[in-house]
Amino acid sequence: MPIIVEGAATNAELFTSVTGPGSEVVATLEELKRTLSEKPDEFAVVLGPGVDIDAAAALADTLRVTRPATSVILLRRRVDTSVLAEALRSGMREVVEERDLAALGEAVKRARQVHRALSGPGAAAPAEGPVGKLITVFSPKGGVGKTTLAVNLGIALSAHERRVCLVDLDLGFGDIAITLQMFPARTIADAVGLEPDLDFAALEPLLTPHRNGISALVAPVQPDAKDSIPASLISKILVVLKRHFDFVIVDTSPAFDEHVLQAFDETDDLLLVATLDVPTLKNVKIAAETLDLLNFPRARRRLVLNRADDKVGLTAEKVESTLDMHIQASIPTSHEVANATNSGEPIMASNPRHPVSLSVEALARTIGGLDASPAPAPGGSHAEHAPRRIAAPKRGLLRRVAK
Ligand SMILES: Nc1ncnc2c1ncn2[C@@H]1O[C@H](COP(=O)(O)OP(=O)(O)OP(=O)(O)O)[C@@H](O)[C@H]1O
Ligand SMILES: [Mg+2]
Repeated sequence: MPIIVEGAATNAELFTSVTGPGSEVVATLEELKRTLSEKPDEFAVVLGPGVDIDAAAALADTLRVTRPATSVILLRRRVDTSVLAEALRSGMREVVEERDLAALGEAVKRARQVHRALSGPGAAAPAEGPVGKLITVFSPKGGVGKTTLAVNLGIALSAHERRVCLVDLDLGFGDIAITLQMFPARTIADAVGLEPDLDFAALEPLLTPHRNGISALVAPVQPDAKDSIPASLISKILVVLKRHFDFVIVDTSPAFDEHVLQAFDETDDLLLVATLDVPTLKNVKIAAETLDLLNFPRARRRLVLNRADDKVGLTAEKVESTLDMHIQASIPTSHEVANATNSGEPIMASNPRHPVSLSVEALARTIGGLDASPAPAPGGSHAEHAPRRIAAPKRGLLRRVAK
């Protein structure tokens, strides 16, 4: 998101109201240079009316050559021909009157388009090129361990030097943030309004980094914010994230709601979570039948039996025969799972040798294709080990439901 050079707080607030919530404000050109050097993908710099015109022109002149995809937008109290001539000479992309916030918004939009066009195929064409794998963790029942599995699986994959992003699509009552003890400044609700120009530059400021190396796009704080999030935004977000992470792991609400259906459209591996109780099995069976109706390929579904060693009169064989699915992973019950979560360090991070962690690790290896790839070199870059695949064709589940 744009970096704004503006010393006055009230001005800065006005400008960020149109440039987007992820915009960064700095007070001086020196600070701008430092911030820019840490943001190689930045698409726009907005120079407030207080920035000296000669210094602004010198900066634009440098960026024109060193970072042609980064647009310089100059704000002036009055735009006259001398300002325009100077701007033209130095290679600034836009000059806008400081009070014309609508024009500033438009200038930022154009800057983003220029950045996309100039930043090569990665930024320009999200529908092409290699993409990461999207894993959706789903169950029609609440409380079966979806969030626990999503978070621990993310930590397991991240430990293998994979770039992982968790997305909390339990939009009403998401638990990813609390499970990871994160205090996010932004949530998925902040992505509303970023359409149709949604790209990674716009999405990145909404991600919350976690100390275990994963990023998270967390659910809104207020449950009713879900209603303001259009379902169509979900697939756009997921498509963008798949281009920038090796694994995108989606945690879901226990329902086939429209947002979750959008996620299914982008899903490569669907982890269906069951436990050893009859109501859950009944509902997972119905969910599997619904997936059949939606033509969600069986080959992409994997059954995960959580609390698999509970002594409750049902066996794993019974689960497999009832659901007509092979159990891909069995995760034992342990009170340490909840203990670990409550202490803010999921079990995979606090005790990687714990039987629960070992089951999740085995699952991570299978779905991540990690056994076939070389062990991560200490300090090696994520990209070097990134499993690269070609995007699956869009299947349009939501559209089929609507038929
Ligand atoms: N294998 C396990 N052993 C013991 N406790 C577990 C196990 N897996 C999950 N739990 C606990 O069960 C509870 C519910 O887990 P979790 O929140 O992951 O379920 P969920 O399916 O995401 O629930 P919801 O549908 O409400 O989002 C948590 O307290 C969690 O610590
Ligand atoms: Mg949950």
